[in-house]
Amino acid sequence: MMMGLLAFENNQGLWNGGYYSQFFGIGGVMVTVAILWLSTGYFGGIGAPFAPYFWPYLGQVPKKKERQRPVRVYMDGCFDLMHYGHANALRQAKLLGDQLVVGVVSDEEIVANKGPPVLSMEERLTLVSGLKWVDEVIPNAPYEITEEFMNTLFSKYNIDYIIHGDDPCLLPDGTDAYALAKKAGRYKQIRRTEGVSSTDIVGRILQTFKHKEGVNENAGVKSCDQMKTQLSNFLPTSRRIMQFSNGQAPSPGARVVYIDGAFDLFHAGHVEILRSARQLGDFLLVGVHDDQSIREKRGYPPIMHLHERTLGVLACRYVDEVIIGAPLEVSRDMVCYKFL
Ligand code: CTP
Repeated sequence: MMMGLLAFENNQGLWNGGYYSQFFGIGGVMVTVAILWLSTGYFGGIGAPFAPYFWPYLGQVPKKKERQRPVRVYMDGCFDLMHYGHANALRQAKLLGDQLVVGVVSDEEIVANKGPPVLSMEERLTLVSGLKWVDEVIPNAPYEITEEFMNTLFSKYNIDYIIHGDDPCLLPDGTDAYALAKKAGRYKQIRRTEGVSSTDIVGRILQTFKHKEGVNENAGVKSCDQMKTQLSNFLPTSRRIMQFSNGQAPSPGARVVYIDGAFDLFHAGHVEILRSARQLGDFLLVGVHDDQSIREKRGYPPIMHLHERTLGVLACRYVDEVIIGAPLEVSRDMVCYKFL
């Protein structure tokens, strides 16, 4: 695990002693957290026999600024092995309304529609709740937008639009999981982020370990580099980093807390430690180690490269600023760093 920690003002360690277990032997810590504030009652209010939302929906929902009440949008998903593609989908969804409600699909529904998830419901809830664009979370959401569930979204959660990426989302029988929302005129689409998917990440993990087992002392580092280049299609643009950033410096006299690490395969343990770190001050600065340093320390490269890991950290609601490619050791210069 590569996670160092420092509170600038008191050098106090932040590790809070929760239950952490090794995740595939890589990428640091994992924690299971009970999210007590989450609503579990989405099955309430079901069953309107007559469905007025199927009447043509000819733009009755005015634009954000013209409305008396906030525009509420809903996006669902499995959010397994959470990555910056998921975060970017939720960021775009939030821009289509004022409040974003996220349905996290149940383990059973994922098994029935896609095959078993890697992460548990609790872990996926922690990850989704930790994103800066998410206002509310509905656990154990269904995979398909059924009439019953759509009615619940409209009547109980006051949802105006249901949103999904522009990739087809098909049920095992080949039908569209969002067909009813589309028919009701309450569906909106965002652009899927190229270059990353949960399947791709599982592939990278398998490749890394396949490679690690077969590595020999002479060929190791070179092959790792080649493998990384082949697997990642991500283009790190400055615009994307800006979209994920808060863009704010600490206010004068603010207590700045610094924490660093690899933050590879951003997971529930990372959310928890960042939350704990943020509670120690007014501004959380996170150092993300570069790929080379991680490879030298571990003997194999990170699964996600530096810019991907940076986006994962920036998407977390507890993070204010990131040092992209932070040194492994905290230097005097860093401690004296003045934010401009
Ligand atoms: N999504 C996206 N870009 C990606 C991956 C997912 O915009 N690279 C969007 C999906 O379109 C969906 C939401 O994120 O609206 C949740 O996706 P999810 O149900 O978790 O799974 P998949 O679409 O299958 O994506 P993945 O295989 O990466 O989990």
